[in-house]
Amino acid sequence: MPEFIGQLPISEPAWNPIASIQSFQRYDKGINFDCGNNSLLILSILANNLIRVRFSPTGELTPRRSWNVNLPDEQWNAVNFDIQETDEQIIIETEKIKVCVQRNPCQIKCFDKAGNPFAHDTDLGIASRKDEIANWKEINPQEKFYGFGERSGLLNQRGKILTNWTTDSLDYTMLTDEMYQAIPFFMSLRPNVGYGLFFNTTFWSQFDIGASETNTLQLKTKDSQLDYYIIYGPEPAAILETYTQLTGRMPLPPRWALGYHQCRWSYNSEAEVRELVKQFRDRKIPCDVVHLDIDYMQGFRVFTWNKQRFPSPKMLVEDLSQQGIKVVNIIDPGVKFDPEANYQVCDEGLAKDYFIRRENGKVFHGYVWPDRAVFPDFMRPEVREWWGNLQRNLTNVGVAGIWNDMNEPALNNQPFGDLEGVKITFPMNGSSGSGEDKTTWKETHNLYGMNMARASFEGLQKLRPAKRSFVLTRSGFAGVQSYSAVWTGDNHSKWEYLEMSLPMLCNLGLSGVAFVGADIGGFAGNATPELFARWMQMGMLYPLMRGHSMIGTKPHEPWEFGQEVEDICRKYVELRYQLLAYFYTLFWQAASKGEPILRPLIYHYPNDEKTYEIYDQVLIGDSIMAAPIYRPGVENRMVYLPEGTWYNWWNRNQIQGSQHILIDAPLEKMPLFIKAGAIIPLVSAMQYAEELPVNEMRLLVAPGKGEFTLYEDDGNTFAYRDGASCTTEYRVDLEGNQVVVEIEERKGKLAPSERKVIVEVIGKAEQEFMDDGKTRRLVFE
Ligand code: GLC
Repeated sequence: MPEFIGQLPISEPAWNPIASIQSFQRYDKGINFDCGNNSLLILSILANNLIRVRFSPTGELTPRRSWNVNLPDEQWNAVNFDIQETDEQIIIETEKIKVCVQRNPCQIKCFDKAGNPFAHDTDLGIASRKDEIANWKEINPQEKFYGFGERSGLLNQRGKILTNWTTDSLDYTMLTDEMYQAIPFFMSLRPNVGYGLFFNTTFWSQFDIGASETNTLQLKTKDSQLDYYIIYGPEPAAILETYTQLTGRMPLPPRWALGYHQCRWSYNSEAEVRELVKQFRDRKIPCDVVHLDIDYMQGFRVFTWNKQRFPSPKMLVEDLSQQGIKVVNIIDPGVKFDPEANYQVCDEGLAKDYFIRRENGKVFHGYVWPDRAVFPDFMRPEVREWWGNLQRNLTNVGVAGIWNDMNEPALNNQPFGDLEGVKITFPMNGSSGSGEDKTTWKETHNLYGMNMARASFEGLQKLRPAKRSFVLTRSGFAGVQSYSAVWTGDNHSKWEYLEMSLPMLCNLGLSGVAFVGADIGGFAGNATPELFARWMQMGMLYPLMRGHSMIGTKPHEPWEFGQEVEDICRKYVELRYQLLAYFYTLFWQAASKGEPILRPLIYHYPNDEKTYEIYDQVLIGDSIMAAPIYRPGVENRMVYLPEGTWYNWWNRNQIQGSQHILIDAPLEKMPLFIKAGAIIPLVSAMQYAEELPVNEMRLLVAPGKGEFTLYEDDGNTFAYRDGASCTTEYRVDLEGNQVVVEIEERKGKLAPSERKVIVEVIGKAEQEFMDDGKTRRLVFE
C-alpha cells in the first residue's frame, strides 16, 4: 500500500487509512467486508438507487438510537443486486447503479448505467484517527453542490467548508458557517449525473467541498464510525424522493398556515393585537396568523400568560378567530429557574428530574430571556410528552400553533471549551437521553431543537386531535420536516439579506425541508419603504410567508411605509391568496414526495448548466418563475429563461426561452413568468384562507404541452387520511392552432363545493363550465 499522505497541517494527528479487503460475505441486504485489523465495512443495498456505507475501525457498530431519523435497513423492501469478483475489485450492480469496491487499497466507486462515475473515493479513501473519521471523494470539474440544510451565501456551495453543528447564528453573514439548522445532506449535480449524500451522523461533522483541495470532497465526523447513504437520481426530484423516504416528509399543514403571518417582538398587549388585526381588516390586507413573541409571558416563564397585558387570552383568541385570525405563541426551551415562586413548569421539571444535568450530576443552568434557566432533556420520550402536554396552557385558550425558538440551544454567558475547537452550549459530557439511549451531548447537541419541535408537534396532535396545528422551529436536524416548518432566524433589514434569503430557502428545500421562510422586512434594523416593498414581493414566494421585526425597531407592518408601499404589499399578499390552491397542491407534493415548494432552476433544468449558479430566480412548483428585485434603485433586470416558451405574467406576452432577457421591474412589479403548458388554478383573493367557499376558480393555461394535478381536501382536519380528499388532472396540448384542454374525471371521496371554472387560455377567448367532476375536453380556436 502506498504511504499515506495526510491533507491537513502537520500538527494534526495522522490519519489511519482503511486497509485492504481481506474477505467479504454477502447477506440479504448487502455485503460485509473484512478490512483487516478487526475493521469492518458494510455496504447495504436498500433500493435500486440507494446504498448505505458503514465503516467501523474496531468492527463494532453503535446500536440504533431511538431518535435516529434514517428509516431502518429492515424496512426497505429487498432489491435484486448482482455481485461479481475480479482480482482488483468486487462489483455490485442494481437496476440503476454499479458500485465497485476496490480491494487494495479499499475504495468505493459508483457508476450510473451509462458508465458515468460519481462519488468516487480518492486515494485517501476512508481513514480514522483519535475521535474522528473521514472519507475523501473526487469532485468532477463540472460538479456543483446544493442543499446542506440552511446555508448562507449563494446557491452552489462548492469551494466551502460547511460544518454541521446547530448554533444560534444571529447576525449571520455571507461568511457564516454554522447555522441554526444542521442537515448533513447534499445533492451533487452535473449534466446527466446527479446524486445525494446523507451523512448519517448526529455528532459534529463537516463537509470540505473542494476548499482545501480543489477537486476533493472530504466528509469528516467526530463519531466513532463512518455512516453515509448515497442516493442516485439523477434528477433532483428522484434524489429528494428517496432522501425523504429515508428521513421523513412533512405532514400536510393546515391551509391557513399558507396565508400571511404577522409577527413582531412583541405585540405587547391584547389591545395592541386587536388594533393590529383591525388594521389588517380595515385596510383589506389579507392575513391569517398573528404570532405572539416572548412578552405575552409572565416574566418570560414559558406556558404562562402575563396577566396585566393579556388578562383574557381566551376571549382575545376567540374574538380573533371570529375575524379569521389564528394565534401562534412562542415557546423557548429555557425554563426560568424559579424554585421559590410556585412556577409549575420549573417545580415539576425539577421534581421529575427532567432537566439537563452537568457531568457532575448538578442541574445545568444557562442564561436566556428569563435570566437563570434550566433546560428539558428533549432526548427523553417522557420529557417530550410532559412538554407536549404543557402546551395545554395555550391550546386551552385556542392557540393553534407553537413557534419554537432558541433551541440550538442558544445561551448567553456560557463558557466555551469542553470540546476543543467547537463552540458549545450544553455541557458536552453531561448526560443526554435515558435507558439504552443514554449518551452525551456530543452525540445529541444537533438533535435538541428538532426534538423540542417533535415534543411540540406530538403534544399538539394530542391536544388538538381534530385539527391540524402549526409548528415552527428555528433549529433542526435532517428530518425536521416531519415535525415542523422552519424559519431562517435573525436576518437584518438590509438588501444583502433579502438577496441571501432565496438561495438559503432553496437549499433548505433541496434538503427535504419544504415549509420554510425568512422574516419578511428583515428582523433587525429598519427597512426602507423600497426594501419593504421588494421584500413583500419576494416574501409572497416563500412557502412560509411571515413578516417579523425586532424589539426597538420602527414598526414594520405593511402600512407603515406610506400608501404606495401599502398598495404594493396588498397586491402581493392578494396574489399569494389567489394562488392558494396552487400552493396547497405544492404542499401536497412536498408531503407525498418530498418535493420543494420553492425551487431553484436547477431543480427542473439539471442538464442546463446555465442554471447551475442562478440563485436569484426561482420556480414555484414547475410552472411559475419569479425573478425578484433585491437591490435598491433597480428597475429592470436580466432574466434567464430556460428552454421552451414562456409568458410574462403581467401582460401575457410570449417570450422564447433559452435566452437571457432584460425585463422592466418598476417598484410595483416583481417579474413573473409562466411556462408554456402551465395550468394554474387561481381563486379570488380573500382576507383569510377560509373566508369564502371557492365557488369560482380560474384555470390560467399557457399554450403548450403540460399537465397539472390539483389536490384538494378540507384544509383543516385529518379527514384526508381517511380518504376525504380529491385530485383532478388537467392536461393541455396544441393541435395546430388549437389549444386543447382536457380534464380527467375527479378522483377521491371529497366533492368540493359547487363551483364555476373559467378556463383562460392565454391569447384565446375564455370558456367556462360548472365543475361536476366529470371528464371534459375543451377546444380553444
Ligand atoms: C430570537 C428569535 C426572534 C425572536 C426573539 C425574541 O432572536 O430569533 O425571532 O423575536 O428571539 O423572542
